Amino acid sequence: MSTSVIVPAAGSGVRLGENRPKAFVDLGGGRSILWHTVSAICTYSADNWFDLDRIIVVVPADLMVAARSEAQRGADEAGRGTEIVVVPGGAERSDSVRAGLAQATGDFVLVHDAARPFTPAGVFERVLEALRDGHPVVVPGLPVVDTLKRVDETPRVVQTVDRSVLRAIQTPQGFGADALARAYSQAGDTATDDAGLAERAGLPVYVVDGDPLGFKITTPWDLRLARTIAKGLD
Ligand code: CTP
Ligand code: MG
Repeated sequence: MSTSVIVPAAGSGVRLGENRPKAFVDLGGGRSILWHTVSAICTYSADNWFDLDRIIVVVPADLMVAARSEAQRGADEAGRGTEIVVVPGGAERSDSVRAGLAQATGDFVLVHDAARPFTPAGVFERVLEALRDGHPVVVPGLPVVDTLKRVDETPRVVQTVDRSVLRAIQTPQGFGADALARAYSQAGDTATDDAGLAERAGLPVYVVDGDPLGFKITTPWDLRLARTIAKGLD
């Protein structure tokens, strides 16, 4: 079953606080976060269990040329002639994914944050396997390890939340091509993840195991961790 992957990379990275959009931040050796993410996807597809049609990278409009060369370099070093399509993103993540969706081909579409460069192959495998089993929408999730409390504006604790029924959701989020189009059919609708829109459209969302290495680089602490991991990959 052929698959395309949309990689939203058009955010500005306000919480990271670097002097450039997050996807273009270097993790060492001249390799950006975007390089790592594209290279990982291409490596997994080259291992043959993942029939990759194309990667659609969604970036800030003024960085399309830089993004193309960065993504192409990541794909080439992974040793496979994957087609890379670069499109300009929008103000919200959902706007960026919607822009990428217009270029998607194949039976399945995965949406994978550029900001998760170390997501292991196993997570992609589990998502694709569940899609092949017929689930229209599949997301990786992790049990929540910290105790969670609801607070008021004081802030004072109102309630301890039962974490056993909660999952921290990662990407890649997988969709049958029709399901993603249906999730994104309401123009202007936004959510912090793609499955959020699918839920609203009434689609069942199935959860498979995520992986701690699939963490999203969000804060300066995450960047320190990512640079340490990238060093270990050399
Ligand atoms: N993203 C996007 N378009 C946007 C906003 C986000 O393509 N308008 C992408 C980011 O580039 C990132 C992913 O969505 O790969 C997850 O978003 P997030 O971690 O929130 O990244 P930023 O929005 O860049 O970070 P911040 O919220 O701290 O500004
Ligand atoms: Mg954001």
